Order: sequence, then C-alpha cells, then structure tokens
Amino acid sequence: MKIIEVSDYKQMSVKASQHVIANIRNSDCLTLGLATGGTPKGLYGELIEDHHVNGTSYKCVNTFNLDEYIGLSKEDSNSYYQYMCSNLFSHIDIPLSQTHIPSGMADDAAEECRRYENMIEEAGGIDLQILGIGENGHIGFNEPGTSFQSGTHIVELTESTREANARYFESLDEVPRQAITMGISSIMKSREILLLVSGKSKREAMQKLIENDVTENFPASILKKHPKVTIIADSAALA
Ligand code: F6R
Repeated sequence: MKIIEVSDYKQMSVKASQHVIANIRNSDCLTLGLATGGTPKGLYGELIEDHHVNGTSYKCVNTFNLDEYIGLSKEDSNSYYQYMCSNLFSHIDIPLSQTHIPSGMADDAAEECRRYENMIEEAGGIDLQILGIGENGHIGFNEPGTSFQSGTHIVELTESTREANARYFESLDEVPRQAITMGISSIMKSREILLLVSGKSKREAMQKLIENDVTENFPASILKKHPKVTIIADSAALA
C-alpha cells in the first residue's frame, strides 16, 4: 500500500482527481468503481470542474458503484442512484447506460446480486476502484466479520453504520436496514484501488489499517494483500 499524505480534504480531492483523470486519459475505455458518502464528494466536484475546463470526456467510461440501499427507489433522494446523479453523472458527458448501481428495488435481491457481479465480470472487471472507509473499517457495506471470499451480496447494516448515515435522512428510523454491496472479493478483483481518507473521525481506522494484521474483523485490512493500492489521506486522518 502506497500512502500519500496531503494537508486537507481539498488536497485529497484534488490529488485523487488527478489520479482518476490520468487513468481516463490513458485508457481507451476505463471501467471505474465508484463510492458514495461524504469522502468522494470533493473528488467528484474536481472531476466536474475538470470536465468543464479541460474537456475530459466520459463518453467511453463505464462505472460500477459499490452499493445501494435495499428498499430505496432510484427516485428516492437518499438512494445512491440520486447521489451519483446529483454529485457526478448529471454534470459530465457519461451516458447513463454506462453507469451501473445495484437496484435496491429488485423483487429478488439475491438474484440482483448475482446479476450485478456477472455484469462487472462481463465488462472485463474494474480498472480503478475508488473507496472510502468506515470508522469500523468497512469498505463498501462490508461490515466487520464479512468473509473475504464474498461477492456482491445482501447485508444487514450495523447500528453504527446506520447512525453514521442517519445525517442524510430525516430520522434514524428512515435509514434502511439492508443494502446490496459488492463483496470483498469483488473489490479485490479490481486492478487498482484508490482509498480516500479524511478527518479525525477516521484516525483510529487508519491506525488499525496501518498497524494491525489482516483480519475479517477489520475488512479494510485485506487491502494489504492487493498489489496496487494507493491511499490518499489527509493530515487529520494520519495524525
Ligand atoms: C460508500 C461506501 C462506504 C463509505 C464509508 C465512508 O459507497 O461504500 O463504505 O465509503 O462508509 O463513508 P463517508 O465517506 O461518508 O465517511
């Protein structure tokens, strides 16, 4: 794991955008893995600005998001579909048909997981996966204890994750209890991983990631076994 320390959230976002843009420009048709949450919003803002100023095109980029809440429709303002449209897709020239997010409304969620995993494989796998990290070490919605062998699957969200995400909802009660997430093995198949970490609330997680052994009790620890991981972390997260 290569760790790049930057001063703050803005610098993390700028550095990450430079990395993503270089990959897009150096590839005929890049497949990007995307995350939601607070961490990558700045990155997406930088990508939008670059698209407008420098004309980087996404016409040949395919995207696969890590996860989606079960029970939220595409139209729901808290769905990750809406998050991606308002924070990125609506502001760049990517055809929506090339963007992929698990459906939280599928009649058969288990079948939706299989379909999603197959779709990633049929697209030739993910070239560059963007990740954030949860305070408990989760990546995607893979909570502590998730098997390292897991493909895309249904998860029961832990109370700590629901509480952390409640800031986007009217109340904690409205936060869904289940989600579909790419599994640890799906994430590890990506050819390259870019993990973004910002703020002192992630300090303990960063410390565990750097110092602790690889264990299913701390899902992000598996990244130590991946051949090409870059962590861009700000000083507050690394202090
Ligand atoms: C988001 C995701 C999560 C977040 C993590 C950190 O698609 O899969 O693993 O990356 O919960 O969230 P933030 O960035 O809000 O601190």
